[in-house]
Amino acid sequence: MLILAHRGASFEAPENTLAAFQRALDAHADGIEIDIMQVGDEIYVFHDRYLRRLAAQPGRFQDLTNEQIGKLRVFNQQPVPTLEEALAFIAGRCLLNIELKSEVDSTRLSRALNRAQSELGFQPEQLLVSSFNHHWLRNLQPQQPNIRYGALLAGCLLDYAACASELGAYSVHLDVDFIDQAFVDDAHSRGLQVYVYTVDEPEDILGLQAMGVDGIFANHPQHARQVIDGL
Ligand code: G3P
Ligand code: CA
Repeated sequence: MLILAHRGASFEAPENTLAAFQRALDAHADGIEIDIMQVGDEIYVFHDRYLRRLAAQPGRFQDLTNEQIGKLRVFNQQPVPTLEEALAFIAGRCLLNIELKSEVDSTRLSRALNRAQSELGFQPEQLLVSSFNHHWLRNLQPQQPNIRYGALLAGCLLDYAACASELGAYSVHLDVDFIDQAFVDDAHSRGLQVYVYTVDEPEDILGLQAMGVDGIFANHPQHARQVIDGL
């Protein structure tokens, strides 16, 4: 079962920052999950629509100027990376799951993904783009047919398989609250990988492993690895 560091190793360092990515690499996480949003003509790694939780100020992230974002410090500590900076930092050293949190210019995103593959050491199968908004995934697909796509599901939708099939998805990503053996078996019978978010409790980690889940998103990948290894 793969361990993907959720927003980087976000238990140990401010989420979605280079510091959290370094902690994930130090923990030998199989992959890193990041959230991206576009502001103006730049794509940033940032999770929240509002600034209160991450930057202790009012207002919306996407209302900031690029200059203001340059001065932001996540949890008063770490700068907000651009997608380009994140790609250059991770540089193919592990899998990368890019979750689209806002609509992004698919041409711009595709350019960044092309550079990731041609200059930064990523193989196409190391790049997994996911979103709860499946329209956004479909917009990107014609430009990036060789990378992987993950259908994020907020729950067990009746028509999830049709949706995943229409997207040509590699994986479905489901909340730990809704996962069960029947879902895992059904998804596997359709050739879909099953990734589960967000998982830090030992009981959950071991239970999901026993179900045959293919990957988990963990805030504390080092701890997850120890649980799996029985340490
Ligand atoms: O991609 C899995 C998970 O990160 C989705 O939820 O809110 O943590 O971005 P959220
Ligand atoms: Ca996410």
